[in-house]
Amino acid sequence: MKYVSLGNSGLKVSELCMGSMTFGRETDEQTSYTMMDEFSAAGGNFIDTANVYSRGTSEEIVGKWLKRQRREDYVVATKVRFPMGDGPNESGLGRAHIMQQVEASLKRLQTDYIDLYQVHCQDPITPLEESLATLNYLVQSGKVRYIGASNFTPSMLQKALDISKAHGWEPFVSLQAKYNLLTRSSEWELLPLCAREGLGFMVWGPLLGGWLSGRYTRDMQAPPKNSRVEQAEEEGWFESWQNYNTEATWQVIDTLLEIAKETGRSPAQVSLNWLLRKCEVTSPIIGARRLEHLRDNLSAAEWSLTQEQMQRLNTASSIPAPYPYDMVQQNCGC
Ligand SMILES: NC(=O)c1ccc[n+]([C@@H]2O[C@H](COP(=O)([O-])OP(=O)(O)OC[C@H]3O[C@@H](n4cnc5c(N)ncnc54)[C@H](OP(=O)(O)O)[C@@H]3O)[C@@H](O)[C@H]2O)c1
Repeated sequence: MKYVSLGNSGLKVSELCMGSMTFGRETDEQTSYTMMDEFSAAGGNFIDTANVYSRGTSEEIVGKWLKRQRREDYVVATKVRFPMGDGPNESGLGRAHIMQQVEASLKRLQTDYIDLYQVHCQDPITPLEESLATLNYLVQSGKVRYIGASNFTPSMLQKALDISKAHGWEPFVSLQAKYNLLTRSSEWELLPLCAREGLGFMVWGPLLGGWLSGRYTRDMQAPPKNSRVEQAEEEGWFESWQNYNTEATWQVIDTLLEIAKETGRSPAQVSLNWLLRKCEVTSPIIGARRLEHLRDNLSAAEWSLTQEQMQRLNTASSIPAPYPYDMVQQNCGC
């Protein structure tokens, strides 16, 4: 496994990050430990969790595993923002919630410091200055080593970076955003912004909840039982059958399956390799329910799609840019 710098920071992370959203939910504790063991044996050092994943259980599982490792060998990323209780100060990016949750995350993770503390989504109510000053304090106090953003619009991300710069505060070093062969809108602004400002780009949902794993085919009438896509239908999540059972999706999947056959790789590996070949991407975060998923996904690195295969995937999955991106692209030749 290769190691890359997380944006302009001095932090070196593995090119694949281990997602832990399934830990304590679809994946039991023992299997979660085995997943982290195998990820580590493959050279992975980068683990992503969040306080809200299974209401703290995911962090607890990562913490129990981490306790048995050499702490400095791992880069642990977690997040704050979504509700951890029903009280008015138990969600958001206000000082009270961040200060309370960083202590709770440190306790669940059984560690003295968090390598990368990410805000899970922008907060429309709290002034950015309050959140950023609090995050800056956390870095100064040593509880947190780096800070990152997730699910920010480009204008809010740029504003946050400008505020931090103006105050001499620690800036976000990374963005965690959804990006995959069926979701390419991050290319219009977020990817260039991160490249320009020196932020690492971590990808969540690299298989769009399984749509890009080869498990879903044109002849299916409904998603398999107990799959993420079936659950998404019930919970109203974005990766639902209703949202993606379209001709446009199947055309992308047709090309994906064709290239998987040609390369002798699984469709999941092809989808992940497409992301690894994008120079702006730092680390796709691999999500897995079962060990077989993890093993499959770990084999996405250390080989390369050809330029021609990348081009075919780019063409099959391209979506028309909305104004003003279409006009800028046409007139600036970029
Ligand atoms: N920042 C954010 O807002 C945010 C949001 C979501 C996730 N994340 C992070 O990103 C990580 C990954 O996200 P994700 O879980 O959405 O990733 P994903 O790779 O798009 O989806 C994972 C799902 O795809 C299926 N899958 C994975 N590998 C497979 C394989 N090799 N073959 C067949 N099916 C496979 C499984 O579905 P089934 O369960 O149906 O088997 C699995 O639960 C999470 O663990 C979390 O750390 C962050």
